[in-house]
Amino acid sequence: MAKTLGCLLGFICFLVPLTVADWNILNQKTQNGLKISLKNYCESWRMNVELHNIRDFQIVPEECTEYIGKYIRSTQYKVDSERAVDECIVYLGTSCSLKKDGKDGWIFDIDDTLLSAVPYYRIHSFGGERLNVTTLEEWISRGKAPALEHSLRLFNEIKSRGIQIILVSSRREFLRSATVHNLVNVGYHGWTSLVLRCPADELKSVGKYKADVRKQLINDGYHIWGILGDQYSSIEGLPSSTRAFKLPNPLYYVA
Ligand SMILES: *[C@@H]1O[C@H](CO)[C@@H](O)[C@H](O)[C@H]1NC(C)=O
Repeated sequence: MAKTLGCLLGFICFLVPLTVADWNILNQKTQNGLKISLKNYCESWRMNVELHNIRDFQIVPEECTEYIGKYIRSTQYKVDSERAVDECIVYLGTSCSLKKDGKDGWIFDIDDTLLSAVPYYRIHSFGGERLNVTTLEEWISRGKAPALEHSLRLFNEIKSRGIQIILVSSRREFLRSATVHNLVNVGYHGWTSLVLRCPADELKSVGKYKADVRKQLINDGYHIWGILGDQYSSIEGLPSSTRAFKLPNPLYYVA
């Protein structure tokens, strides 16, 4: 009897996490019984990714790849990105007392901050497949990523204020010339330095690598007024910048 019960409980325990973790197409209800649509479910997933409540996800949930694909190609994504950039410009105009000593600095990410990787993710299920570094790097090496237009506007605004632009990317060093060509071809020029990951950096998390770059910049006398990135790993950790701004990106998570 005890054995049977044990088996039965084991079976239920095995089943329960599967059903409560995922959108249940038959019930269309949250755990508290609120009736919702698949769009509600996926919108809430996306929002909680941006709030950094959902972390370390490997893939976009299968039931949400269509929704995420629509969002990332939508006017809403453009408006959300434009707002982030506009807030950077408000901050530059109101709260930055630049030192004007040649060491005022601003950090940008590259992928899905200056350049869009959406054309790659479009052919890889909008984040619904596990990342294949080989095919991603092959795509990057072609240097065909389009600019994110609002980021280009901010880039030029920052340059015109005499702030040094430092690009810090988790792209690997061997992609340097492809990266430079791609950036220049779509209109980015006049940055102060482009920091890419050398083999030693690949042993650390991206978050630690980026924090170490900031530490070096500060040691070199820079005042880092801001960061624009699409990942929390570009923003979090010490030392920090005076402010950080995040662009939306529900396609993937970089730790
Ligand atoms: C990544 O893609 C390449 C090329 O399509 C393939 O040969 C390789 O097996 C893939 N790697 C993984 C880990 O899926």
